[in-house]
Amino acid sequence: MKLSLLFLAPLVGAAVLSSPHDGSSTTQCPGYRASNVKNHGQTLTADLTLAGKPCNSYGSDLKDLKLLVEYQTEDRLHVMIYDADEQVYQVPESVFPRPSSDSTINFKKEALQFKLQHDPFSFQVVRGEEVLFDTSASHLVFQSQYLKLRTWLTNEPNLYGLGEHTDSLHLPTTNYTRTLWSRDAYGIPSDTNLYGNHPIYVDHRGEAGTHGVFLLNSNGMDIKIDQSDDGRQYLEYNTLGGVFDFYFVAGPTPKDVSMQYAEIAGTPVMQSYWTFGFHQCRYGYQDVYAVAEVVLNYSQAAIPLETMWTDIDYMDGRKVFTLDPQRFPLHKMRQLVSYLHQHDQHYIVMVDPAVSDSNNTAFLRGMEQDIFLHRNDTVYRGAVWPGVAVFPDWFDSDTQDYWNGEFNDFFSAEHGVNIDGLWIDMNEASNFCPWPCADPAAFAVYDNLPPAPPPVRSPPYPLPGFPPDFQPSSSSSSKPSEKKKPSGKRTPSGKKTHKKRAQSGKGKKTGLPNRELIDPPFHIANAAGSLSNLTIDTDIVHAGEGYVEYDTHNLYGTMMSMASRDAMQQRRPSVRPLVITRSTFAGAGSHVGHWLGDNLSTWDKYRVSIAEMLAFASIFQIPMIGSDVCGFGDDTTEQLCARWAMLGGFYPFFRNHNNYGQIPQEFYRWPTVADAARKVIDIRYRLLDYLYTSFHTQTVTGEPFLQPLFYLYPEDRNVFTNQQQFFYGNSLMISPVTEENSTSVSAYFPDDLFYDWFTGKAIRGHGANITLSNIGLTDIPIHIRGGSIIPLRRDSAMTTTELRRQGMEVLIAPGLDGTASGELYMDDGESLNPSRTLQVQFHYSAGKLSIQGQFEYNPDVAVESVTLLGQTSKHHGSRSDVEYNAGRESVTKKTNIKLTGSSEVQL
Ligand code: GLC
Repeated sequence: MKLSLLFLAPLVGAAVLSSPHDGSSTTQCPGYRASNVKNHGQTLTADLTLAGKPCNSYGSDLKDLKLLVEYQTEDRLHVMIYDADEQVYQVPESVFPRPSSDSTINFKKEALQFKLQHDPFSFQVVRGEEVLFDTSASHLVFQSQYLKLRTWLTNEPNLYGLGEHTDSLHLPTTNYTRTLWSRDAYGIPSDTNLYGNHPIYVDHRGEAGTHGVFLLNSNGMDIKIDQSDDGRQYLEYNTLGGVFDFYFVAGPTPKDVSMQYAEIAGTPVMQSYWTFGFHQCRYGYQDVYAVAEVVLNYSQAAIPLETMWTDIDYMDGRKVFTLDPQRFPLHKMRQLVSYLHQHDQHYIVMVDPAVSDSNNTAFLRGMEQDIFLHRNDTVYRGAVWPGVAVFPDWFDSDTQDYWNGEFNDFFSAEHGVNIDGLWIDMNEASNFCPWPCADPAAFAVYDNLPPAPPPVRSPPYPLPGFPPDFQPSSSSSSKPSEKKKPSGKRTPSGKKTHKKRAQSGKGKKTGLPNRELIDPPFHIANAAGSLSNLTIDTDIVHAGEGYVEYDTHNLYGTMMSMASRDAMQQRRPSVRPLVITRSTFAGAGSHVGHWLGDNLSTWDKYRVSIAEMLAFASIFQIPMIGSDVCGFGDDTTEQLCARWAMLGGFYPFFRNHNNYGQIPQEFYRWPTVADAARKVIDIRYRLLDYLYTSFHTQTVTGEPFLQPLFYLYPEDRNVFTNQQQFFYGNSLMISPVTEENSTSVSAYFPDDLFYDWFTGKAIRGHGANITLSNIGLTDIPIHIRGGSIIPLRRDSAMTTTELRRQGMEVLIAPGLDGTASGELYMDDGESLNPSRTLQVQFHYSAGKLSIQGQFEYNPDVAVESVTLLGQTSKHHGSRSDVEYNAGRESVTKKTNIKLTGSSEVQL
């Protein structure tokens, strides 16, 4: 086995139960009958009664259900089917707050209609003449451990969403199963369940409009998309529990659907300006010197490095909230962080949820506060990076306090590792110990490794500003908390509290009792095998309400995200915390960002990163998204890494990261890659205010910042399956080279006007592909959409702090009608609630640029020039007030416009 493989979560576990079910044994189930239908105007209620003999195929049929239909807004319909006793588990409001209804809606304007069929019960959701959802495709099945509902769809549907997955963006329509069950998925294989769960799909019907369907349900599920024997298209939900809690949004455009979903799941959280800089990480930096050396190398290579990261390497034996005393001693870590901060750079480290059960303060304090998961009265143990480990119970009301305490100590600005952002991982939750995990110590990967290499290189390289000093000084400690304790409360006394733990299934909506929680009768197609395999046992009962892991497994990562964001927030209350997580559930974007997990250094993963990123940014409302640039597992190549650097420059979250044991892949390692990185970071940074503006818009309205082509050209059927090009904001179409050893790309140009970013040359798109050739490894085709105005920085910089001091340029790309418009949003770049903002609209027509808006925030830089694209030397002949730019078909006018009030420029 390759050494690096020892560092990966085991891919297969022993305890794989029998193969997945297809739900066919429910075909004889009787369905339900609707009665007592009451129309209350904005809501409709009915009773649903089992219409015959129970078939009890996967648990017992529930006899009495309730139907609730709510017209929540003019474009949102809420349909809920739940048990009359309200015992069945529902996603807790604390994790997924429900959207509010608009009590003033105008029914005449209601875009969606609900149609009820009484016997057998089924319903339709209709928009005008268009039937969007029709559950008459099969009888409703509602059993104690299995729910089934099937809807007819139009033939050859264009469906997107249902993540997290690495399948095509445009989902397959036959014989396709999407399993939703969080899983540590090294290599992110296609056709399997991955880290996160987003049960929303977008159904795009071209001219007939677009709508979205969100099922708020966190149970394990298989969603099947296929055709019936008579060739009719359907989509079918098969869940292991919970209720049918549907939200239908009416569109009618793809953008509308995204914005309407944001009203349900929450708009994404705004990030600080610096977080859009370039990030460098890897697993396997052997000591703090290796980390510092990377920082130095980036600066010497003149590649802007905004943020340096450290993986679990910094920990003492991979135990969270500890430092390796020899390789990453506290005084050197503090020196590293100071060095970065003095140079306007940032620092991020990883924290995993699992806490080593060996003698360490984080464990002892967690035991004292009694916040770890239990089975009966015993703390539940698994095996993760540090060996045998225990898991915080995010449902325990004391866990936030515990987590805050650990963060306050360990990441203290005064005596700890003063990080600027946080990386959280392994929160599916991952467990290396396969079910039934009788002996977690046997899966303690780290303990079973061969002896570690010598702790320090001898002698350490001399690094400017970072003197070699590897003797841990007397003031150094492996644990910040031992240096200074903020309060007596944080000192572990070894005394344990004994909480009274709830029983499962006691409260309302917390879950039916007496279920088979480890091996339920219906098997979803979990790629890890049985539900509990390589994760936390699904029969664990959480503290508080007594929810069981069976129902809430898919929430673990999001709950850790929320707690971690809060913990970061209370360290630095006035600034926006950056938290990047691996596992997400619907709504996570309103707290955190996400990276796409353990991809591989392959062309396939490079390509699929676009589809994944688009799904997260445009559909799931997690726009702070990116894939490990140059690839995580396997060794990258110079060519792949150069192409990936160029593409990564257009990920919202732009980070190079790779695995222990792989070759180093920092951008400066190869001349071509270094050139590519310098070039793309230059473009990215010049565009950073455009990115910031578009991203900010999404945080306010949900209008997606990154978009598949069909979002902007919804009636152009040629783009429905396009997943190799994308829009970066509304104005830039990016068409990366996607094949190895190729220097060309066949890019689709919709019927519109575009301008080449580099040459300014106008390209009239005619709804056909154009072959773009001679695209070297340090190039990426960028086209500006006619009708756009883009605010730019005139020059890039080595840090985003310096960038904010650069003067600005306004770039005008007139559309087919000769006009253009754009926006600029600015604030201080980091305040949680900025007191002053700048919100400017640009308009261009008939040779005049107008700048209007709200000018409360003064960026202290001027618009120093205005450039108009599509101007040839012929146009220029008659003009003396502007300068013609040879090599870029454009004219530029020098200006000195202060962004403190409205102004106009004649071009
Ligand atoms: C997981 C993460 C990966 C990280 C590794 C070690 O595999 O996905 O990014 O490098 O753990 O912490």
